[in-house]
Amino acid sequence: MVRFAVVGLGMGRNRAQLITETAGAELACVVDLNEELARKTGQDLGCDWVTDLDDALGRSDVDVVMVMTPSGLHVDLGVRCAQAGKHVITTKPMDVTTEACDRLIAAAEAAGVVLGVDYQSRYVDTNVRVATALRDGLLGKPLLGEVRFKWFRSDDYFAHGGGWRGTWKMDGGGSLANQGSHLIDLLLWFMGDPERVYGEAAVLNHDIETEDVGMAILRYPNGARGAIVGTTTFPSNAYFSAEVHGSEGGVLIDAALTGEARYFGDGIEEKLATIDNPLKNVVEDVVSCLEKGTSLRVDGREGRRTVALLEAIYQSSREGTPLAFQAAS
Ligand SMILES: NC(=O)c1ccc[n+]([C@@H]2O[C@H](COP(=O)([O-])OP(=O)(O)OC[C@H]3O[C@@H](n4cnc5c(N)ncnc54)[C@H](O)[C@@H]3O)[C@@H](O)[C@H]2O)c1
Repeated sequence: MVRFAVVGLGMGRNRAQLITETAGAELACVVDLNEELARKTGQDLGCDWVTDLDDALGRSDVDVVMVMTPSGLHVDLGVRCAQAGKHVITTKPMDVTTEACDRLIAAAEAAGVVLGVDYQSRYVDTNVRVATALRDGLLGKPLLGEVRFKWFRSDDYFAHGGGWRGTWKMDGGGSLANQGSHLIDLLLWFMGDPERVYGEAAVLNHDIETEDVGMAILRYPNGARGAIVGTTTFPSNAYFSAEVHGSEGGVLIDAALTGEARYFGDGIEEKLATIDNPLKNVVEDVVSCLEKGTSLRVDGREGRRTVALLEAIYQSSREGTPLAFQAAS
């Protein structure tokens, strides 16, 4: 049995619930600075609750901590967890700078604990099939990868929780870093690292520091091209999609978080349907990793890649020019 604590109970409540529903996992404790939220979540889910992370870290019945606080706190809290000997899973993005990500990667390595980042779209069957198909050449030579979303986020959304969303310090960016990081992670998984990045970011219709319209054009070492478009200014949540094609076929993933997709090319849909996806979420992935020794879908180095690309997009946007991109630290 793998025993979890969850710190930060906004989206973290959803992950705490998931732990209670997953075979081989047990929810020992939830943590939030907001005492009422911590108590209610603990009571609802039938686990202990505390308001100070150190009280969870002192417990011998906690193996893994899921860090679900505002993004700019993931590494500071994650390092404390690693130093207490706990395995660490952060929600997306891993943190707001690569410098912070490197600190957590180093702390986890020094402590000998597992480190991962929770990108739920990595467990969606369609996305696993497309990533495998691209890796194994089933779509032929990759030509174009494109991710885009048009969503709505209200002024109330940005005012929530003391106003950390839409700030550089705690959100690390806007529509691309927060909502879009799922899609940027998918594009990196599908297409690999680009060698050149041109970014555009603008704040057009919210009173926030970070972009509500973000875009990037990418060029890959094999000549393929990529595109990213993400906005929180649309009147409603219209779509969240990932599209890739190569010389032999293409897949338009109309809903990247659930996997609805259209397939193009001879026998492509049938070929992809044979690709297996044994793990359905990050909790199953952690249980498998700790009990069977499998690798996490998104470990610390993999999670850092999205933060590195985001940094390059924002730098390019500020400088108004394309940049050479090198992801590895
Ligand atoms: N995977 C997803 O689809 C998904 C969805 C939403 C949010 N997120 C991520 O989850 C994180 C949190 O976002 P949210 O929308 O849940 O935010 P939120 O503001 O709703 O919740 C954050 C919670 O963390 C608590 N907190 C802050 N500092 C703490 C500390 N030091 N110790 C204990 N508790 C602390 C706050 O009291 C709050 O309850 C962000 O990194 C965000 O990107 C992921």
